[in-house]
Amino acid sequence: MRPQPDFIHEFVAGKSNRTLLLLHGTGGNERDLIPLGRELDPDAALLSPRGKILENGMPRFFRRLAEGVFDLEDLKKRTHELADFVVAAADRYKIDIHNIVAVGYSNGANIAASMLLLRPEILSAAILFRAMLPLVPDQQPSLSSVSVLMTAGSVDPIIPASSTKELVELLRRAGADVTIRFFQSGHQLVSDDVDLAREWLTTSVD
Ligand code: MLT
Repeated sequence: MRPQPDFIHEFVAGKSNRTLLLLHGTGGNERDLIPLGRELDPDAALLSPRGKILENGMPRFFRRLAEGVFDLEDLKKRTHELADFVVAAADRYKIDIHNIVAVGYSNGANIAASMLLLRPEILSAAILFRAMLPLVPDQQPSLSSVSVLMTAGSVDPIIPASSTKELVELLRRAGADVTIRFFQSGHQLVSDDVDLAREWLTTSVD
């Protein structure tokens, strides 16, 4: 028997073959990024799970030991769990498994990056808002058919720019086509992030 989608989640049907996998930040939930997803692509289906970890009552996608210090065993386990959820949800909702674009913010961007590195077959593209290097995989994945947009805040107090750049380098070494932009902003998203992501989805992703 195939696994059922076992995350609390929202699914909104679309008019095109694309599905945006929406991954919220710490303290968010499955409803948070639905308006952003619609703004980025009015026609895509939206699949939005809620992270299963609770940190002081705040949902997240994996455990951390301190800010920016991740529990790597938990991160690996949760990454596979999320990837398996996407496969099960694709089956249940009849969405095209070959046209899934992750849109992650902060903790959600970090698990999306981890999924690119550990389960490179799942995502055809990813938009990572405020991401850092989540882990270094034992084996370099092959991401030669994957496009990634990363946007970062140049005065983000939570995400070190050096770690964002390490992620860019790792993804590029794996063959991904990575666009990175730093904006004059902190950890919160600004309109520049959304405008660029919308344009990038239209022009750079099939
Ligand atoms: C993380 O824990 O994934 C990052 O530190 C971002 C955050 O959620 O604060």
